[in-house]
Amino acid sequence: MASIIDGKAAAELVRGAVKVRAEAFLQQHGRSPSLHVVLVGDDPASQVYVRNKELAAHKASISGLVHRLPIATTQAQLLTKVQGLSADPAIDGILVQLPLPKHLDEQSIIACLDPQKDVDGLHPYNAGLLMVGRPGLRPCTPSGCMHLIEAAGCDPAGKHAVVIGRSILVGKPIALMLLEKNATVTIAHSKTADLMSVVRQADIVVAAVGRADLVKGSWLKPGAVVIDVGINKKSDGKLCGDVDFAEAMAVAGHVTPVPGGVGPMTIAWLLANTVLAAERRAMS
Ligand code: GUN
Repeated sequence: MASIIDGKAAAELVRGAVKVRAEAFLQQHGRSPSLHVVLVGDDPASQVYVRNKELAAHKASISGLVHRLPIATTQAQLLTKVQGLSADPAIDGILVQLPLPKHLDEQSIIACLDPQKDVDGLHPYNAGLLMVGRPGLRPCTPSGCMHLIEAAGCDPAGKHAVVIGRSILVGKPIALMLLEKNATVTIAHSKTADLMSVVRQADIVVAAVGRADLVKGSWLKPGAVVIDVGINKKSDGKLCGDVDFAEAMAVAGHVTPVPGGVGPMTIAWLLANTVLAAERRAMS
């Protein structure tokens, strides 16, 4: 029987440490680190995520605002908004909630952020720093996943890690982070032939495809560390991940649950990146 990796407890510890740093920043600089979130449109899942981020920031002594813009917002209007936030010296972190409505071009919006305030770590400059192995602002979900892998007592060095998914938000950055920790990394995706056989070789599985219960227990190597990034809604309204949790528990060594695994870590890392951005800006 696998052990459950408790993302909520791990996130609580990270958030406690962030709060201490945020309060020290306030003492030193006379203001709290600040996070501004831009939400365009009324996607229900995004509304919930943004509300959770807002509450978590408040609890960690991080100030900020959510800028809610109508779905009809144009590319030019959104660019002007993001440029305005980037130019405001009182703002440390900016997050544009994704996905944006289809008529907006995400990449060019992200590219106009000040990279020093890009707490999502998605700006090409920050992506480049990750690629060359230098410290920068790194994407929150993969950073949180790496923390959970280490919290499970797993050193990636020499292990075979299989990442399922190649998104800019999760798949590509976590593949680089695992490589940085000396894992042998395979990136699998929708065109991968015989995915089951590829996953069966993995000591570490990171599933980030957004397909409910895709990864079965029979796909897993006994003792594997399984990190489930998926958040899918079943027909009965219940949340589930990309991994069949009950089956994985019977085979794997460590498994993250959904909910209560990766999700809380993503938010904790966003707060950590915000304080890091504030500290770095104050030094520069
Ligand atoms: N939508 C789902 N996850 C994320 C995230 O980590 N950052 C942003 N900006 N949008 C998201």
